[in-house]
Amino acid sequence: MMPTLNVSVNGPAVARAFAEHIVKKLAEKKEGPLFWALSGGSTPKLLFKLLAEEYREKIDWSRLHFFWGDERCVPHDDPESNFGEVKSLLFDHVPVVWDQVHAVDTTKSPEEAARAYGELMMKLLPSNSDGLPILDINMLGMGGDGHTASIFPANMDDLLTDSRICAVATHPDSGQKRVTMTGPVLNASDEVAFLVTGNGKTERTAQVLNKEHGAEKFPVMHIRPTSGKLIWFLDEAAAAEVGY
Ligand code: 6PG
Repeated sequence: MMPTLNVSVNGPAVARAFAEHIVKKLAEKKEGPLFWALSGGSTPKLLFKLLAEEYREKIDWSRLHFFWGDERCVPHDDPESNFGEVKSLLFDHVPVVWDQVHAVDTTKSPEEAARAYGELMMKLLPSNSDGLPILDINMLGMGGDGHTASIFPANMDDLLTDSRICAVATHPDSGQKRVTMTGPVLNASDEVAFLVTGNGKTERTAQVLNKEHGAEKFPVMHIRPTSGKLIWFLDEAAAAEVGY
């Protein structure tokens, strides 16, 4: 299945395209909760700022439940925290329902935090025939090395097939411990949406989307929902060498 491409002129336009996508998904689902997993990274920052500035009244925030595809094992007020970033850029500015903001409990040890988060996801989310929790939308980024969430090339073989819901990953450069959803859980999502922008991602995006030889060594290459949708939200720079 070829992913759907949504190409916008630049990063801010990608953020707006994705914000409108969330509005559309809420309308399509008519009522009830929307289970949305967030990621860290630069493009999501643009999105969070835009949502805070322009979507306070355009979104029924009481329907949104937030999860994280990965989280750094640091306190929530640490500048490295993915939760802390969304809180300061978005949650502190819109009427989220705090009981529906499901942060990774980083006061626990990494292993315990990963286990507990997997249990929380199983408790709160519907599950598929394989017993895996289903998110309505799993928003992901792609690092320059082709990582996504915190599934890095060095640890991808284990994390892409791990039977657990969440696992502990280690950043290859900093050694920072992370909690990450595993490959099977990412692929159980109803929809995976990659947000990738900038000319620093041109080559990698082309290798992955053009399915070039050797691209299978990049973790993102293995993230495509088993039965859900796959959309790449790109700016023109990142999409410049994509061949379709
Ligand atoms: C994280 C993210 C990570 C991110 C990529 C892309 O916690 O760092 O989840 O997977 O999405 O590194 O980040 P950029 O969009 O900033 O390149």
